[in-house]
Amino acid sequence: MKIFLDTASIAEIKKGLEYGIVDGVTTNPSLVAKEGKEFIPLVREITSLVPGPVSVEVTARTPEEMIAQAERYAAIAANVVIKVPINLEGLQVVKALSVRGIRTNVTLVFSPSQALLAAKAGASYVSPFVGRIDDVSGDGMALVEDIAAIFGNYAIATEIIVASVRHPLHFVQAARIGADVATIPFATLVQLLNHPLTTSGMERFLKDWEKVKNPGR
Ligand code: G3P
Repeated sequence: MKIFLDTASIAEIKKGLEYGIVDGVTTNPSLVAKEGKEFIPLVREITSLVPGPVSVEVTARTPEEMIAQAERYAAIAANVVIKVPINLEGLQVVKALSVRGIRTNVTLVFSPSQALLAAKAGASYVSPFVGRIDDVSGDGMALVEDIAAIFGNYAIATEIIVASVRHPLHFVQAARIGADVATIPFATLVQLLNHPLTTSGMERFLKDWEKVKNPGR
């Protein structure tokens, strides 16, 4: 499973890349707003740091405006993937961009039918938001299972990005299902590594090692 960082923070992206397990980045308007930086220079910096795909979301409302915006963003770097919300306008945009060879990540996916239509329109990725479904007492991971089964039925090449990941269990469940990608906040990446038995085990080893260095103490 590929791991994308769900952030627009340059500091988090740099740290994640140092760990050597980050395959790409996803952003959204809320994550970009948190950074308080000018948008295009920020995207340029992220795309120059990250070797893999970087999702950048369109915010215009009409298909024509969204396509124009997408073309401007796609011109920034070859690794830009255009994030498009799933609705009737979004479908048209995905189709138009796929014809132009511009990759898309269809976002705000909350049902299997949305995912299937996005794939049929030519989406490179679909992003089911598991955490937000759990927030309203649904089962986010069940949606990922459904999408994976449907894509499997028809050998659909569109990749599934498990998004709105809130904790390590979402990440593990995504891998069990065989999702192509999990996009995770930086804090979750750190949580994936932490285990109290690893911490206490290391403490004990280092304490015992002191005895080896100072025999008899
Ligand atoms: O990037 C989209 C998604 O991952 C947002 O997550 O936590 O705001 O629902 P969240």
